[in-house]
Amino acid sequence: MDLGKESSSDMALLDGILTPFQIANDSDLIPILQQIQKEYGYLPPDVLLEVSKKTGIPASRIYGVVTFYEQFHLEPHGRHTIRCCRGTACHVKNGSELIDAISRYLGVGPGKTTEDMRFTFETVACLGTCFLAPVIMVNNDYYGHLSASKIKDILESYS
Ligand code: FES
Repeated sequence: MDLGKESSSDMALLDGILTPFQIANDSDLIPILQQIQKEYGYLPPDVLLEVSKKTGIPASRIYGVVTFYEQFHLEPHGRHTIRCCRGTACHVKNGSELIDAISRYLGVGPGKTTEDMRFTFETVACLGTCFLAPVIMVNNDYYGHLSASKIKDILESYS
């Protein structure tokens, strides 16, 4: 994250977000970041720098929190989020074939968003539903006992 980047985001939105947090401290950081992501759709680096300036919370601390929690995104996110499990239970049931099939269908690999902003593709260590292995999630929907041949039909249902 380049916190030295020139400002281009709408900072008026940020002022509104920070207003309820008159004396922001460390415990306010996660709710502030959640609100920023809700309003901007992601966490723009220039906005995070401004948060640091306005709250006095060091940029390094903000960056540490943002990169620790999977819920936070430093880049614009697609309308739909695909999470493909790369954990052991899924891996031994050919989970990597799902990753390949999704990458082929989207034209982008894990960690990327399609150019049309339709999908963001992520892989995760475990979706907590190993009994469904191999499994993916699209938004809040689980697709378990999956094979690569079903990927196209599933993803086409998300416009
Ligand atoms: S290892 Fe895939 S859901 Fe747990």
